[in-house]
Amino acid sequence: MRSAAGGQRAASDDGIPAHVAIIMDGNGRWATQRGKARTTGHLAGARTVRSVVEHARRTGIPVLTLYAFSADNWRRPEAEVAALMSLFRRYLAAEVSRCLENGIRISVIGRRDRLAPALVRGIEAAEAATRHCRDLRLRLAVDYSARDAIVEAARNTDGVPMTRSGFVRALALASNDLDVVPDVDLLLRTGGEQRLSDFLLWECAYAELVFTRRLWPEFTPRDLDAALLEYRRRDRRFGAIEAAAG
Ligand code: IPE
Ligand code: IPE
Ligand code: MG
Repeated sequence: MRSAAGGQRAASDDGIPAHVAIIMDGNGRWATQRGKARTTGHLAGARTVRSVVEHARRTGIPVLTLYAFSADNWRRPEAEVAALMSLFRRYLAAEVSRCLENGIRISVIGRRDRLAPALVRGIEAAEAATRHCRDLRLRLAVDYSARDAIVEAARNTDGVPMTRSGFVRALALASNDLDVVPDVDLLLRTGGEQRLSDFLLWECAYAELVFTRRLWPEFTPRDLDAALLEYRRRDRRFGAIEAAAG
């Protein structure tokens, strides 16, 4: 398989996507269905993150980007936003040692200027501690908007030739990512909605889209395997007539 949009590294021949991106949706509904507060759903969602990250590493997925908080999620009630921010901080603090043991490099993409200083320090510490890890690149999207990142990249291309690869570099910088990752091969969304909600719009130009009704807190490694199987069944043509050769 080859990657078309930005000329980045291609998906590997073994059918493992070079980059999987997940819109982790349905935490609120999962909690509401059980008569619990939405924040309980977010806590349960964090447990799913652990199991899915671990499974992605075991499976050999090189890059995993998880949509944790969109720029539009600031529109939620203050108490829910505060609970999510506190969960991110605790997640990062708790996961660094597990990531070090498992060779997982953490990066956080999105704006940082609206995050609490303690959270920004936690992000910087997690990124610095795991920078050398090579088995899985885990990118968490927090206060992220793909459209804002594209506008920011367009603003910052001074002196860089306006080519696809030049723009892709500017886009990585605009998202606070230090280096370019491959385009998304597989975009998965839980919770039943079939939309992108401003996630990785450029990077998903030729992504295979898989939607599942499963709510994020009940998503399991087996569901990830099912999505990977579905991905392998897809015929990726990138505009040509025949599927790109292996
Ligand atoms: C996704 O679950 C998590 C975040 C957006 C932070 P939701 O909180 O959107 O859950 P639903 O869609 O309301 O069920
Ligand atoms: C998208 O989910 C953002 C995250 C999963 C972090 P939303 O629940 O915010 O998206 P919409 O509002 O249904 O489009
Ligand atoms: Mg939602």
